[in-house]
Amino acid sequence: MAADLDETKQSSKDRWSGLAYDTSDDQQDITRGKGLVDTLFQAPSGDGTHVAVLSSYEYISKGRREYNFDNTMDGYYIAPSFMDKLLVHITKNFMNLPNIKVPLILGIWGGKGQGKSFQCELVLAKMGINPIMMSAGELESGNAGEPAKLIRQRYREAADIIAKGKMCCLFINDLDAGAGRLGGTTQYTVNNQMVNATLMNIADNPTNVQLSGMYNKQVNARVPVVVTGNDFSTLYAPLIRDGRMEKFYWAPTREDCIGVCTGIFRTDDVRKEDVVELVDTFPGQSIDFFGALRARVYDDEVRKWIADVGVEKVGKRLVNSRDGLPTFEQPEMTLEKLLGYGNMLVREQENVKRVQLAEKYLSEAALGDANDDAMKTGSFY
Ligand SMILES: Nc1ncnc2c1ncn2[C@@H]1O[C@H](COP(=O)(O)OP(=O)(O)OP(=O)(O)O)[C@@H](O)[C@H]1O
Ligand SMILES: [Mg+2]
Repeated sequence: MAADLDETKQSSKDRWSGLAYDTSDDQQDITRGKGLVDTLFQAPSGDGTHVAVLSSYEYISKGRREYNFDNTMDGYYIAPSFMDKLLVHITKNFMNLPNIKVPLILGIWGGKGQGKSFQCELVLAKMGINPIMMSAGELESGNAGEPAKLIRQRYREAADIIAKGKMCCLFINDLDAGAGRLGGTTQYTVNNQMVNATLMNIADNPTNVQLSGMYNKQVNARVPVVVTGNDFSTLYAPLIRDGRMEKFYWAPTREDCIGVCTGIFRTDDVRKEDVVELVDTFPGQSIDFFGALRARVYDDEVRKWIADVGVEKVGKRLVNSRDGLPTFEQPEMTLEKLLGYGNMLVREQENVKRVQLAEKYLSEAALGDANDDAMKTGSFY
């Protein structure tokens, strides 16, 4: 190596020396805020001319939701009533309606796995909105006051995006799980109270949300807030009163279920009549059920594959394998097959309800006996 080096070819100048006295104001400097550019003059990142050349993840908000476009909207069914509610709520929050007080928060509630979160994402993606997200887990913290501060921060983040000319909203998933209160025995934490109070305060003064440590009072853009949850009766009652929150109970109709299932099975050549029959065979099941059902059909393929490879070699073949992951032929989805798996899922649900181990543990600490009767009848899975 040393022999190959020709020292005479080296220039004596330091080719990076210019960096020391560089005064350019290129895009990267703007991103970094060189020369303290007021944020007013910066477009939202990823928009307009202000596309960051280089950015570390510190610059990218953890709350910003980016959609993966290949599995949203196209082919998926959005229930018309759901779409209508969400669209109208967001739109009217950006309008100046004469003498009308528009509630800032839209609360979508209903049974588990009915497609509240999923359809919100579909609608927002369709509108081209990347919402600022929060989840229930962020509403509790060991530091009192932290979650309330985070809500205000995320709200201001969304307001900044709007101020820079891009529609945005704040989206909180499963609000009742983080801020609700189950029965009289659960503890009401300081954070519970502050989250409820903060949301109430934002709903009352949507254009005056200040962050701690900021003393120049600024008027901020109004940001529509969308929250989902299962049971809003666990929330602080004044928060959900009509002036603050518009409440929308979501339960899919039979037509919605058929539409959604058509979307779920769209790549599987399932006939329209079969989809209808499937939905009618399992009335009252959530939308999540039909998604799980489709995934179940692949179980047989996976089982066959395991038998081919051999149980001992499964790990070697899947993790860091040179051959890559196995691919499967599209399994045939006949009505009988779907109904069979559907019944299996229903029996699993019933087992959970029937056995109720927790109660059994408390009364007699029985583990072995809990499934006794099911094992005898041969219906235990
Ligand atoms: N319109 C739809 N098209 C296709 N699949 C859907 C649709 N809506 C829901 N699903 C499926 O159902 C699953 C459950 O939906 P989602 O998570 O939105 O339920 P949820 O109402 O938010 O439930 P939870 O109250 O438990 O949060 C989704 O992961 C998705 O697979
Ligand atoms: Mg959800």
